[in-house]
Amino acid sequence: MSLFNKHAIFEKNSILLLVGILLVVAIGGLVEIVPLFYLKSTIETADGMRPYTPLELAGRNVYVREGCYLCHSQMIRPMRDEIERYGHFSLATESQYDHPFQWGSKRTGPDLARVGGKYSDAWHVAHLINPRDVVPASIMPRYAFLASKTLDGARIADDMTVLKIEGTPYTDEDIEKARADFAAQVNPDGDVEDFLKRYPKAVVRDFDGDPAKLTEMDALVAYLQMLGTLVDFSAYDDKANLR
Ligand code: HEC
Repeated sequence: MSLFNKHAIFEKNSILLLVGILLVVAIGGLVEIVPLFYLKSTIETADGMRPYTPLELAGRNVYVREGCYLCHSQMIRPMRDEIERYGHFSLATESQYDHPFQWGSKRTGPDLARVGGKYSDAWHVAHLINPRDVVPASIMPRYAFLASKTLDGARIADDMTVLKIEGTPYTDEDIEKARADFAAQVNPDGDVEDFLKRYPKAVVRDFDGDPAKLTEMDALVAYLQMLGTLVDFSAYDDKANLR
């Protein structure tokens, strides 16, 4: 029996043909994907990347809980229009400590990957309380309630423990001091030397304009203000031919 005759089995039986196609495609996929697990170059690193501070992490939790990702992406694609609008395209390492990642595919609002430092804290607070107060045509919902929801950081060490299991390099010391760090980040008068040594480039200040209490607003603004600020992109510009 020639090879042609054998192939007739597939041509006459659509289910068998389907199984055959799946098998062949799977081989192609494996050949492309498996080497990535063994290549060191798959995991790039960049100076400045560090895990989130406990307060930023709490803000990130609010971001995920409120579904901000349904309208906002956090991934600048390597295309000229994106780079001109949002800045250097996102590197994989910038989402290294994001579980789950916030890349997103839906942009009802703008990409937020590099929103840190773009506006003042007061702008963010006003915008979250009522977006129409600062951007009259905005269709973003209000999140005014965040300013009255106080946070005590009681569970933040647990969050960090889970992230550590998932591979985020929090040390035992980070987890032990989580609650203290949580409060330290909103108190510019405190002793933050040790905190800043463990979390370089962390911004220490009262974020929501109300130093009397620590709220979800503080945490969310702390998170928004650090997005995209950790890696110094002046060193990367030569590599990004798209600029
Ligand atoms: C229904 C869709 C929607 C949701 C949900 C949403 N946003 Fe927005 N967001 C927008 C739109 C549209 C804009 C652009 C107009 C404006 O600035 O208000 C925007 C703008 C922003 C900006 C300003 C970005 C820039 O570069 O100017 C920030 C920051 C922001 N949103 C944060 C958030 C956060 C944090 C959440 C969750 C608590 C959230 N958004 C939820 C639609 C949304």
